[in-house]
Amino acid sequence: MSGSSSILSAGSSLEAAEKQPSTQLQWSTRLSFILAATGSAIGLGNIWKFPYITGENGGGAFVLVYLACILVIGIPLMMAEVMIGRRGQQSPPNAMAALAKEAGTTPIWKVIGWMGVIAGFLILSFYTVIAGWAVSYISVAADTTFVGKTPADIGAMFEGMLSDPVRLLFWSTLVIVTTLFIVGKGVKSGLEKAVNILMPCLLVLIIVMVGYAMTTGYFMQGVGFLFNPDFSKLTSKSILVALGHAFFTLSLASGAIMTYGSYLPKSVSIAKTSIYIGIVDTAVALLAGLAIFPIVFANTLEPGAGPGLIFVTLPIAFGQMPLGTLVGILFFIMLSIAALTSAISMIEPSVARMVEKFNISRFKACSILGLALWLLSVGSALSFNLWKEEKLFGRTFFDTIDHLTANWMMPLGGLAIAIFSAWIISKKVSQEELGLGNGTMYNIWLFTMRFITPVGIIIVFLNALGIV
Ligand code: PHE
Repeated sequence: MSGSSSILSAGSSLEAAEKQPSTQLQWSTRLSFILAATGSAIGLGNIWKFPYITGENGGGAFVLVYLACILVIGIPLMMAEVMIGRRGQQSPPNAMAALAKEAGTTPIWKVIGWMGVIAGFLILSFYTVIAGWAVSYISVAADTTFVGKTPADIGAMFEGMLSDPVRLLFWSTLVIVTTLFIVGKGVKSGLEKAVNILMPCLLVLIIVMVGYAMTTGYFMQGVGFLFNPDFSKLTSKSILVALGHAFFTLSLASGAIMTYGSYLPKSVSIAKTSIYIGIVDTAVALLAGLAIFPIVFANTLEPGAGPGLIFVTLPIAFGQMPLGTLVGILFFIMLSIAALTSAISMIEPSVARMVEKFNISRFKACSILGLALWLLSVGSALSFNLWKEEKLFGRTFFDTIDHLTANWMMPLGGLAIAIFSAWIISKKVSQEELGLGNGTMYNIWLFTMRFITPVGIIIVFLNALGIV
């Protein structure tokens, strides 16, 4: 692959001739793939979004539905995406086209691959802005800014950050440059090293946070909130929120998992690996909940505070608890790392496609994509201040991109991938790839993908359209 030497000598024709397409890259071990795919899955979705939507939707019953969605829709769909990526051995559009060809049907399925690549890119343009908040809060926590502040002070501090375009742009630019630098260094020299070091650190930090939560005296209240289902709090809307979140949190229909799958060695069982990733991703979300809710209750804060939950509510707790500055710094470092490993996976499909198409170095592809990404991210950063009132169909730029990806591109892409993998690809191919044999387990997967997953996704999609 084009490693650091190609970065230095990019452009030489000899090197261009020797350059391998990105799709020939391989993870060196099964663990590397697992770490990278888990790093993609675990992100702001688990640590920022899961706790706040759980808080908003009343806790236990919502969590139960979310768990069911991960199991019934998320994991089978992840298996399908890894399978398509590995079988196709190329970026998502070409992998879809190659498999369609193998199945004797139209290569127009490539459009679905493209939609994923574009969705990942678009999500990243706002994801970097939110990740920037997390990074900036490392320094805010380090300045002991949270200590002795009232909830109103902390709320005003968060609003103050949002209203400062220069500050938001500074941090999101830093996130973009860091992400593209790691991705530019290539899968072997960049991603693998990054995830091998960063992911275990992240897990240790979350466990430390849960350990602290156990000392608050409110741990069981947090546990009860997360796991005691109160079905009277469950509305049809919260079921749909849970379903949509299962989709987002596993990085599905965004090119990420499919691209990482194309780097997976043939010897690895797709089924086992996907189940493992689904379990780890879910465990991290639940651990984040276990770390956050006891702190919320110990300080009589509001679980349903909304998207500001961790940026407004947690700093109040950090300001009050012993060693709060240290815990706060660690928490925001952890969140930034989680966001970074997800961000890396969102841009990788675009990089893979560009290298494949134009035969340029990864570093060059990253520079070009980085510029486009930065321009889009400016739109999202300014949506919180200067362009707050600039609306298209009642939505800011940030809201528009979020809505377009989460409510349109991902459900549509996921639906198509489910249909493609269970109705178009031959049973022989899916049996060969998944490693489930042709017995009961395989039939459960096939039935789920043929019927249950598409119906589930259609519900999410209809919700986005406002029909249900
Ligand atoms: N799964 C990531 C998270 O939970 C978000 C993500 C979406 C990553 C799409 C890659 C692709 O934060």
